Amino acid sequence: MSRIIMGIETSCDETGVGLARLSGDATEPRVELLADDVASSVELHARYGGVVPEVASRAHLEAMAPTARRALATAGLSLSDVDAIAVTAGPGLAGSLLVGVAAAKAYAAALDVPLYGVNHLAGHVAVDTLEHGPLPRPCLALLVSGGHTQLLRVDDVASKITELGSTVDDAAGEAYDKVARIVGLPYPGGPPIDKAAKEGDPEAIAFPRGMTGPRDAPFDFSFSGLKTAVARWIEAAERHGEPIPVNDVCASFQEAVADVLTMKAVAAAREYGIRTMVISGGVAANSRLSALARERCEAAGIELRVPRPRLCTDNGAMIAALGAHVVAADLPTSPLDFSATPALPVSTVTVR
Ligand code: KG4
Ligand code: ZN
Repeated sequence: MSRIIMGIETSCDETGVGLARLSGDATEPRVELLADDVASSVELHARYGGVVPEVASRAHLEAMAPTARRALATAGLSLSDVDAIAVTAGPGLAGSLLVGVAAAKAYAAALDVPLYGVNHLAGHVAVDTLEHGPLPRPCLALLVSGGHTQLLRVDDVASKITELGSTVDDAAGEAYDKVARIVGLPYPGGPPIDKAAKEGDPEAIAFPRGMTGPRDAPFDFSFSGLKTAVARWIEAAERHGEPIPVNDVCASFQEAVADVLTMKAVAAAREYGIRTMVISGGVAANSRLSALARERCEAAGIELRVPRPRLCTDNGAMIAALGAHVVAADLPTSPLDFSATPALPVSTVTVR
């Protein structure tokens, strides 16, 4: 018997609705993506250089129902075909989460189908099963986006995830966005920096590798010092009246980010004897990060899985995929009065 799961994502600036078909059984669930519709408010935030929460939640409100309708049309389904609803309960922006959670509750109540409030970070991991099939247990996940930078041990994507480390300040994508602003590139900063870096020398400037000292937590990250180092370097060059070699600055900054992320991820996989690594989140689209990860994973005998860029950024497909795994595992549903939880810990995959 197959079941249709609708996934709703509104934790940041993307309104996403995904539809997935679950077949197979609990031991070997098969999850197939039927539709993945996303409405982004990123352009509304561009002139502020970062997401403005109030603007994002209003945009979700406008986009929510039309996005759901588009996803259903793409899949050739109607609402009455939906067998379960999964929605991001957290972590994320309170006002944004609230829109998706309210919509999910309304759909679940109206259709009289089970409702699951799920963890956004687990969704970033679960999405890989849509592209590469079941996840080996355990696997290691490196989540890198504008909002998160985390190393996770995933024993079961539907129920057992442990955080091994995270950023103590800026997220990796946030560092890209801030450095882009410093060097005069547009928001979001990842793509233009990635592009500029291709024309630059990654060894031109020795930017610091945060939290890599012998007394630092081995699997935590820090990118705020790196951002400051870039700003200082540029100020000094300007003081001396020198032209700013933007491509070299971007390449050297990008090298520092990719170096630390891959070094720590491979070290964590080694430490825990894990042979599969998943990299997800918007920054997973970074060309240098994936190239260096591939190189270092291969040398360490680790299988590397990176979902296609469209699946790496925030979307409803990741929540539908996670919802499908939760349904397959026959886990308890969430009560209709569960709350959106902005700081939901990754260890809570489904809220009760
Ligand atoms: O996952 P995502 O769409 O949204 C969240 O933040 O949750 O990630 C967006 C982040 C932005 O900070 C953007 O600058 C970064 O991902 N990004 C990249 C690249 N493409 C997007 N960073 C580095 N290289 C890229 N090619
Ligand atoms: Zn995300």
